[in-house]
Amino acid sequence: MAIQWFPGHMHLTRQAIADRIKEIDVVIELLDARLPGSSANPMLADLTQGRPALKILNKQDLADPARTALWLAHYNAQPNTRAIELDASETAPARRLIKACRELAPLRGGMVKPMRVLICGIPNVGKSTLINTLTGKKATKTGDEAGITKTEQRISLDDDFYLYDTPGILWPRIIVAKSGYNLAASGAIGRNAFNEEEVALELLSYLVPNYPDALKARYRVELPEGITDEVLLEDIGRKRGAVLSKGRINLQKAAEIVIYEFRASTLGRVTLETPEEFAQWLAQGQKLDAERQVKKDKIETDRLMRFKKIPRPNHRDKTEPRGELGN
Ligand code: G4P
Repeated sequence: MAIQWFPGHMHLTRQAIADRIKEIDVVIELLDARLPGSSANPMLADLTQGRPALKILNKQDLADPARTALWLAHYNAQPNTRAIELDASETAPARRLIKACRELAPLRGGMVKPMRVLICGIPNVGKSTLINTLTGKKATKTGDEAGITKTEQRISLDDDFYLYDTPGILWPRIIVAKSGYNLAASGAIGRNAFNEEEVALELLSYLVPNYPDALKARYRVELPEGITDEVLLEDIGRKRGAVLSKGRINLQKAAEIVIYEFRASTLGRVTLETPEEFAQWLAQGQKLDAERQVKKDKIETDRLMRFKKIPRPNHRDKTEPRGELGN
């Protein structure tokens, strides 16, 4: 079943971005380097009206470095776009960030035309941590689930460089099923909104072909040809002592172990999508979404016709000549 989640304050965020965007030179989008495609917000390009974009692949310390390089190249090949990787261990990220923004908007700068940058990111991507590092403050808000900034903040990173942080949360409607699972695995989705077992099975289905050695090393499991995700999850549960009475495996516990160890990178540095894979998932998701929309439109049209709000399309005009058979 596809995962959907609706965090609060969405409307507030959209409005805040719409209000602010006219005065913004560069938009920074913080992405989770383990799932750059899924943690991006497709609405953002529209909302920011094609402003130059800096993609920050955050939490790169948890991601597969070879795949981070692929994603950086992918974004850097796009017009008006730069990408850098980052993690919280970098104590002074401002210099790299400022440099990338200045490259994207070379005509801005100086006291008359200061650079104005907007920072956006989905929950848990590390935005508060980064802002705290940039402002030199101690953590004001970090936590497992979405934290909510209620008012816009303006942070000076240099005499002529302002960073704006929008209030609330910008969360995409998930049309790629795989993105829902990857977001849940990463910790971006509230834990009541998904089933851990389902997410762990989906995670294993990706890890088996892509990171088999990491799985074997961490869980001491064999991965014979054709092993199912269910059998593997049971095996992991058994190896980790998640056993109930009569030897039954506690699949919930096993799932939590797999998810937690992915999040903490105990499994190793893992990235759940490549640019190529994500493009395929997105195309498929868009196709299904369009089909869903056609069905929804048809249901709505039928409803309107039933209540005679619109005429039926084959409603015969009384002035039309009758057919030869007179029917
Ligand atoms: P948000 O504002 O975007 O919602 O995210 P926030 O900064 O609160 O960060 C969410 C979690 O991600 C926090 O962990 C934070 O420590 C962690 N984090 C942020 N940046 C990085 C990074 O570059 N690398 C790694 N490995 N983790 C990062 P937490 O467990 O929820 O809280 P805590 O353990 O820090 O208290």
